[in-house]
Amino acid sequence: MPINKNKLDDIDKIIYDIHKLLDAEKEREINAIMAENVGGGAAGKTEHDPSAQGIPAQDNVEKGLEGGSDYKETLKRLRRKLNVPEPEEAPSSQGESEALVSEDVLIDELLKEKQGRAPSRRNAPVVDSIKALADEQVREEQPQVIQVSQDKNVSTNFLGVGLDVGTSNLVASRITQSGQDIVVNRNAFLNVREDASTIDILSRLNIPRQVVGGKSCVIGKDAFEFSNFFDRITQRSMNIGVINPFEREAIHILNLLVQKMLWQPQIPNEICCFSLPASPVDNAIDINYHKNVVETMLSCFGYEPMALNEGYAVVLSELKDRKFTGVGISCGGGMVNVCITYMAVVIAEFSIARGGDWIDLFASKALDMSSTKVSLVKERGMSILKPEDREQESIAIYYKQYIRYFLEQMARILKESDKNVQFEEPVDIVFAGGSSMVGGFIEAVRRELKTIDLGIPINEVRLAEDPFTSVSRGCLFNAQMASKNGK
Ligand SMILES: Nc1ncnc2c1ncn2[C@@H]1O[C@H](COP(=O)(O)OP(=O)(O)O)[C@@H](O)[C@H]1O
Ligand SMILES: [Mg+2]
Repeated sequence: MPINKNKLDDIDKIIYDIHKLLDAEKEREINAIMAENVGGGAAGKTEHDPSAQGIPAQDNVEKGLEGGSDYKETLKRLRRKLNVPEPEEAPSSQGESEALVSEDVLIDELLKEKQGRAPSRRNAPVVDSIKALADEQVREEQPQVIQVSQDKNVSTNFLGVGLDVGTSNLVASRITQSGQDIVVNRNAFLNVREDASTIDILSRLNIPRQVVGGKSCVIGKDAFEFSNFFDRITQRSMNIGVINPFEREAIHILNLLVQKMLWQPQIPNEICCFSLPASPVDNAIDINYHKNVVETMLSCFGYEPMALNEGYAVVLSELKDRKFTGVGISCGGGMVNVCITYMAVVIAEFSIARGGDWIDLFASKALDMSSTKVSLVKERGMSILKPEDREQESIAIYYKQYIRYFLEQMARILKESDKNVQFEEPVDIVFAGGSSMVGGFIEAVRRELKTIDLGIPINEVRLAEDPFTSVSRGCLFNAQMASKNGK
């Protein structure tokens, strides 16, 4: 049956407003508790304000109701919109639309949520909580994933898995007898309400719901598509290269997504080599917590985890014919990862905390549209050298700023570095990652390099063979080498 988009938009706006009401109410409660206990009201907010790092975790707030002062007003508006009478006139029978907007129902929901909330996994040690998650998921979903095959006669040619754990996308790869298997999913999710309207919309769109931490959500590619359909912003389990500290269920969501993508290990402790960002040079992000979380996760799935620098993964997959000498750069959603090598030996590796998300965020502000929609415009195919409309033009402006920024950061670091980055011969610079795939990217880089001196003799600036899977293939290469060499 065709979906009436206008009707769905209306329903969605209402659901969205109710979300905001609940959030506003929750925030008031939290602030009251904070004020009581530490006398700080929303004092903790600044410290945890993601926008302090340039990327708001929940842009949704901007489009919804701010704070709680509009609570009654919005309820009235919702009632008017749905033609529901004010409470004193309300009949006692419970129609579906009434249930949707009744203040009592909202408060009831809040109380239920507060009382029924499972003990927070957040405070449990990472190892314990991930093990608990794995058990939970095995009970609920796919027991096969951790049932390790006992066949020890698998050829080492086929052993090893590569996993690109990216801020925007997860890419798993392995070699099978029929060739290379690559599985991709968006590293995204979206909490959804469990009311009849939302369930109906999801089932019409054929989008499965998951329950994570007691809350309904859609995950992966579905979350991205659902968000786009309603011009919403997806939630992320990772932010700027590492586990997102602003999402309570980040670890659980990542665990679920990775588990659904990975194959059953072919032997106990088959190596799974995963990408790890380098520490950023322009932001105080520590990668060790994130590393520990991913390692624990993979161990729980029966794999032997092996971390590999993301830029080095690009070197491994793209610079084989250059004796692994040159510069590998991964331009992802959250970061730019740079690795400079000589004969596979790392001379320098670092990251810059700016990526596609930064472009989306600033272009979305200029265009007054959701950053998820900006991603879609970017990914549908455009050239930053020949933008064709206002949306593309705004994206192109921020893209060029982004390119100039990371090249300047690279030049600064390489000049300050005490490492000896002196190549006898000019070397290749290879770009990988989704953000390098926009039309005109390499040409824009080449133009900037006419005025920015990286301090490295450059032979060729080029794009990876398949930029999107390059990091994962580099990880796979490393996993295969380690498997063949018995680690
Ligand atoms: N064809 C494309 N053109 C431009 N940008 C793209 C394209 N495909 C993906 N992207 C962007 O690349 C980023 C994701 O790249 P990816 O390498 O998957 O990042 P990560 O490894 O951080 O998850 C996102 O910002 C996405 O919008
Ligand atoms: Mg990636």
